[in-house]
Amino acid sequence: MIVFPMSNSLELGKSIAKKTGAKLGKLKSELFPDGEFHMQFLDPIKDKEVVLVQSLHPNPNDTLMELYFAGRTAKELGAKKVTGVVPYLAYMRQDKRFHAGEIVSNNLMAHLLNTCLDRIITVDPHLHRVHNLAELFHIDRKKITANEAIADYIAEKFSKFDTVIIGPDIESYQWASRIAEKIKFPSSIFLKERFSSRKVKVKVMKELEWKGKKVIIVDDIISSGHTMIEAIKEIKKKKVKEIHCICVHGVFAENAFEKMKKAGAKTIISCNTIPHKSNGIDLAEMIVEQL
Ligand code: R5P
Repeated sequence: MIVFPMSNSLELGKSIAKKTGAKLGKLKSELFPDGEFHMQFLDPIKDKEVVLVQSLHPNPNDTLMELYFAGRTAKELGAKKVTGVVPYLAYMRQDKRFHAGEIVSNNLMAHLLNTCLDRIITVDPHLHRVHNLAELFHIDRKKITANEAIADYIAEKFSKFDTVIIGPDIESYQWASRIAEKIKFPSSIFLKERFSSRKVKVKVMKELEWKGKKVIIVDDIISSGHTMIEAIKEIKKKKVKEIHCICVHGVFAENAFEKMKKAGAKTIISCNTIPHKSNGIDLAEMIVEQL
């Protein structure tokens, strides 16, 4: 096995190679003056199991294309098997034609990956209207969840006697409620209405003992941060002690991290599926178990 960390996952890729004991491969990737990619495998890969580690954020378009080029080329060069470790799978949220004429990008992203990989391993892909990766991928696929690692993090840093866990929308029950059940913390899920990609409203569905509590909001993705910010605003009305935010994938578009801090988040922690200063939960071990 030879592991190639790609542009968005250099640290995670190296850590995966180290933990598996596989050879750490070098894949040169640079831009021609006109902006086109020039890429080259600097290690022989014929008859090897090639692992490409590439998260699809930041720059989802370029990094998807880079992964596609690398996967197709690895196959052309005779790799025995090409596995894509794609910790953050972009384009999963556009899972239906919400407005006439729109692209449904989850299908199109999957079409590209189906043709360049033999297997995909990803972390908590945003499965909403599509319930299973098998609806998108015909190659071997494995979905890993960060729930256990997040639950361990919360159990280590907080106590169930003065902390509650919140999911900011119905879909977040898959993380917030399951994590809360696992470590036996009280929890509640909010109801979210989305008006546009930058405008959401949330409201409390189930009241809890809020006063003087530490509140942890858990979601899969923080993108513009508006979901978290609206949840923070609601929670602040309850006279709680502290508010903390945890996500699997910290996209943090448009200074979301700073905006959330300003809104009142005491800490903001993400898993290392996307490199960011908020990375506080390491998933390398979980990924390696699947290789
Ligand atoms: C959507 O349903 C996801 O679970 C997240 O709640 C959403 O992607 C967060 O987006 P934003 O940070 O832009 O509000």
